Amino acid sequence: MTTQMKKKSKRSSFNINLLVALLTLTMISTAQAQTKESWNTSKKISPDLFGLFFEDINYAADGGLYAELVQNRSFEYSPTSKREWSSFSFWEYVTPGFSYGSLNVETTSPVHFNNPHYVVLNVEHVGKEEKHSGPSGVGVKNTGFDGMSIREGNKYNFSMFARQLTNQPITLTVSLQTPKGKILAEEKILTSSNEWKKYSAGLTSTTNHDTVSLVILATTQGKLALDVISLFPERTFKNRTNGLRTDLAQALADMKPKFIRFPGGCLVHGDGLGNMYRWKNTIGPIEQRLEQKNLWGYHQTAGLGYYEYFQFCEDVGAKPLPVLPAAVSCQNSGGTWRIGGTGQQALPLDEMDEYIQEALDLIEWANGPVTSVWGAKRAAAGHPAPFNLQYVGIGNEDKITLEFEERFKMIYTVVKAKHPEITVIGTSGPFPDGDDFEKGWKYAEHHNIPVVDEHYYKDPNWMMKNLNRYDTYDRSKSKVYLGEYASWGNKMKNAISEAAYMVGLERNGDVVSMASYAPLFAKKNHTQWKTDMIFFDNNNLCLTPNYHVQRMFSANQGDVYFDKVVFKDPSDSTLAASCVQDSKTGDVILKLVNVGNQAKVMKIDLTNFKKIISAAEKEMLTGAAEAENTLENPQQVVPVKSTFKATKNFEYEAQPMSLTVIRMKTKS
Ligand code: AHR
Repeated sequence: MTTQMKKKSKRSSFNINLLVALLTLTMISTAQAQTKESWNTSKKISPDLFGLFFEDINYAADGGLYAELVQNRSFEYSPTSKREWSSFSFWEYVTPGFSYGSLNVETTSPVHFNNPHYVVLNVEHVGKEEKHSGPSGVGVKNTGFDGMSIREGNKYNFSMFARQLTNQPITLTVSLQTPKGKILAEEKILTSSNEWKKYSAGLTSTTNHDTVSLVILATTQGKLALDVISLFPERTFKNRTNGLRTDLAQALADMKPKFIRFPGGCLVHGDGLGNMYRWKNTIGPIEQRLEQKNLWGYHQTAGLGYYEYFQFCEDVGAKPLPVLPAAVSCQNSGGTWRIGGTGQQALPLDEMDEYIQEALDLIEWANGPVTSVWGAKRAAAGHPAPFNLQYVGIGNEDKITLEFEERFKMIYTVVKAKHPEITVIGTSGPFPDGDDFEKGWKYAEHHNIPVVDEHYYKDPNWMMKNLNRYDTYDRSKSKVYLGEYASWGNKMKNAISEAAYMVGLERNGDVVSMASYAPLFAKKNHTQWKTDMIFFDNNNLCLTPNYHVQRMFSANQGDVYFDKVVFKDPSDSTLAASCVQDSKTGDVILKLVNVGNQAKVMKIDLTNFKKIISAAEKEMLTGAAEAENTLENPQQVVPVKSTFKATKNFEYEAQPMSLTVIRMKTKS
């Protein structure tokens, strides 16, 4: 060996030593990184991925989630909402005991100008027939939403506004009655003012009954006006006044949604400009809210208004996601949605300043200090603390016209400048592709809109063919909010195809920042849109397989996604799986989906997770492809919970047509 060679060899052994040292260091730090449970193939995903879409469609609000039992409580129904309706719909004029008098609907001197109609009762004679055994008087009866469902021992809070139109106080009885007139609860009220005054009473039922009516009977002579006649179960979700039906609200709370989008849907942009959902009409005392027709063919009392939406979000730990109209109406305005065409109306430009201020006022109402004009209104309603509004949607699958673009930009520019802390969500039409989709995305890119709302309703085959839809989305552009999606059906095959699709959403949780199934609720005999997540009548609810899938994903969200944990035959398109970790709890969560009709094995490799506790929880939903739940048989398909022993490496046999969630705790 020459000296030069020796020198070279010395240098190279030095280099090798350095390399070894470096390698050792890298290995140590990799091992440390692995014990911290992070590795190359993990990525941060949205912490707000799965949430809820709420729209007052299918009687989801009035007659549904909103617990009010009186239908048309303020006499504001009209043919505008439904051709055959009037201000006295769902009411009856009653004169038991051969009494007589008259009833009129009047508008000259209402409780509030937003709520112009009220009834005037003129009691001329209260019958005293000996042969008549029941109560006598002149009054009104409300049949509720397909009858009122009353439970034994439960208390119901009655309230109404009344104004004496004659000098003498008038005695009224308020009762809950069966269709045959049997009284289940009764209280007396004595009027005491010639001005509008609110009267209340508590009614406790002696029995269960499903088709009860509320009867208000004047039992002494005189004339009086009545309005805003309300009956609420005392038990509402979290016992909120003007609150929500407990069972329906609890079903949503059980999903642990990260956000709730409201009030729609097409309800947002409305059937013509006059029907746009204006949030300011929906806050304050209920007698001051402005009611209007519901674009889905019925009526909105706005009793479930912005305050109640925000309160509910807070009650279930979800972020509020209000969607404001983009100052254009639904492109299907005028009922053209079946035949297509465009009926989009745009707000005149000279009204835009005021309209934009409405958006700014919403942010102040939600987040502003109690000393601000709108923050003070929130505080007056009972919520001095801010609601921490973070997201605002502008527009709902609008047709991307020049009028839309111009108005969206005007709203967006001001909101962005004044409230950079708010994430604005744009829109991209009603389909997963096509003209509005392309234009919507191009527009979003051009204006740097942080998130774009996509909507699509497709069949299970489409879902399965598009499991990788978001794999190729450009990460440098706007994020996606998949605001409405479903697979046209409530059978297991639909739900499981949605589960496979949701695995793709999780895998792409770095670009898909939010997703919500739609629509949420559908009331029996009042359903305009099928497929829905939860069906209900006045007493019961039916959680569809789709609900179970949504809940299993939503209640088991993570904010870090791990690749290379679940292994399956790559050519097998009937299997889908994901692995996420919730960094708050440290829990590692597997979602394993088999859409096929044979059991299949997936291999799980958890060796990189050093801190997994083997005693884990498992929840599995499986059933025949055609199986579904109904109100009559709601338990046909339900998930089953069990314990599970997790090991470093295990094989999991996924049942045909199944979703399994395995949740593993980690040592801290
Ligand atoms: O979810 C039902 C309807 O579907 C929504 O109102 C609308 O946005 C979509 O077309």
